[in-house]
Amino acid sequence: MPGWLKDAVFYEIYPQTFKDTNNDGIGDIQGIIEKLDYVKALGCNALWINPCFDSPFKDAGYDVRDYKKVAPRYGTNEDLYRLFEEAHQKGIHVLLDLVPGHTSEEHEWFKESKKAQPNEYSDRYVWTHHWIQGIAGHPYIGGEADRNGCYMLNFFKCQPALNYGFLNRTEDWQLAPDHPACIATREALKDIMRFWLDHGCDGFRVDMADSLVKDDDENKSATGAIWKNIREMLDVDYPEAAIVSEWSNPHQSLKSGFHADFYLDHHGNGYNTLIRDNETPGGDHSFLKKDGNGDIMRFLLDYLPKYDDTKDDGYISFITCNHDTPRARLTLSYDELKIAWALFLTLPGVPFIYYGDEIGMRYLDIPTKEGGYTRTGTRTPMQWDNSKNYGFSTAEADKLYLPQDNSEDAPTVEKQAGDPDSLYNTTKALIALRHQFTDLQADGSFSVIYAEKEQFPFVYRRGNLLIAINPSDKKAAAELREDAFVKEDAAKGDVSKTSAVYSIGSCSISGSTLSIEAQSFAVFELV
Ligand code: NOJ
Repeated sequence: MPGWLKDAVFYEIYPQTFKDTNNDGIGDIQGIIEKLDYVKALGCNALWINPCFDSPFKDAGYDVRDYKKVAPRYGTNEDLYRLFEEAHQKGIHVLLDLVPGHTSEEHEWFKESKKAQPNEYSDRYVWTHHWIQGIAGHPYIGGEADRNGCYMLNFFKCQPALNYGFLNRTEDWQLAPDHPACIATREALKDIMRFWLDHGCDGFRVDMADSLVKDDDENKSATGAIWKNIREMLDVDYPEAAIVSEWSNPHQSLKSGFHADFYLDHHGNGYNTLIRDNETPGGDHSFLKKDGNGDIMRFLLDYLPKYDDTKDDGYISFITCNHDTPRARLTLSYDELKIAWALFLTLPGVPFIYYGDEIGMRYLDIPTKEGGYTRTGTRTPMQWDNSKNYGFSTAEADKLYLPQDNSEDAPTVEKQAGDPDSLYNTTKALIALRHQFTDLQADGSFSVIYAEKEQFPFVYRRGNLLIAINPSDKKAAAELREDAFVKEDAAKGDVSKTSAVYSIGSCSISGSTLSIEAQSFAVFELV
């Protein structure tokens, strides 16, 4: 486990819309370099940069045409190497985005693979043996290649599936995961990882990490075996490199070698019940909505078994949102967002903040761009200051990659930086708190102290810190058990001698009773 992950707070950057320095309306690597001090001042010490590689951009760069080349619209490879260097000088680690399951249909491998004449890349992708023979249960395309076969897709039409084999095989064109062609795909992936690690990157966020071996078993064990093999390479040659999976099944991912796995907002799961539980009748029942009458137990029933099962294997990563999900500001107000970020930044694991969420940028209802569809509204340009285009770019507004939030109260860093109560300053204070107390870091212990069905507050322990959260609009109280105050070394702790080390709103403890005002959050240290 790379030691730096323990205290890592990530900042996700969508390179298209973070900072444009050459006035073409689209963000670039130089823009990220210029904003490293901003990232550092916020308290983040790690970056995840969405794909910045050569691509026809039919899926915003998740359709990679050349894994080893920076897309010219963002700059050059040298710019990215410089970013690694300058980030490291500031104590910031950098993860790139690795797309192992598919390439662009314009990738050289695929152009070779399409040829009628057998060659080194014929089996790099999944092909059937006849132009009219489809792939039951999987999307596929016919009629596009000279080769007599149909090819399988991994996502959009522009993203043919790389071939890591099939575990359960029923057709003669399906290769076993240990077929030399499938091993060659895995080795090609390792070669790409080595290329960027050798140039100074610190690891990868891995796209659709569970999608490698097709018709895998229930536990995805054949896909897991590939990641175990890759982890062995990292442990030997790059022990400080980290891999974080888009898998959202920590039992599978963390036990297959990933250091961290995202807790994504899959329909009906625990994350969803916290911030966006608006599909049940009677309005939004999210725990973090002040009038949501939410239920923390719905989150805990999903999260706790996952945490208990994997806490010795790796970390579960909470996200404020990401480039695929609506911004949390769509359903939560600024005050609700403060409590939400307080929760996400004090739970175990490695947290990720999506650019602009520290100021509560809005989700915009805008037309699709580069395969974004309903995700496009989360990808709009960062709102830095009160200058033209909020300081994102000096290009004319109609030349920007995406439109911006034109409402009068559009948040900017500049507006919020001067206000001690702003979401920006609250986020900054919460991140500082996490760095200050090792108990709050990724592997600090976690236990539930008070959580009752449809009740507030929620009280939990991280090491010797006692944390209470009441997102509701009503005052709440809880009777705490004796063990809530027992320090980790078993000595009796006492919170009564200390006031909260951090609070939003107000909370106090008298005897064994914790009282917390509406919309409040507090962290107490047992002394
Ligand atoms: C997940 C990525 O986060 C998303 O943006 C992309 O469209 C798909 N994977 C396909 O690569």
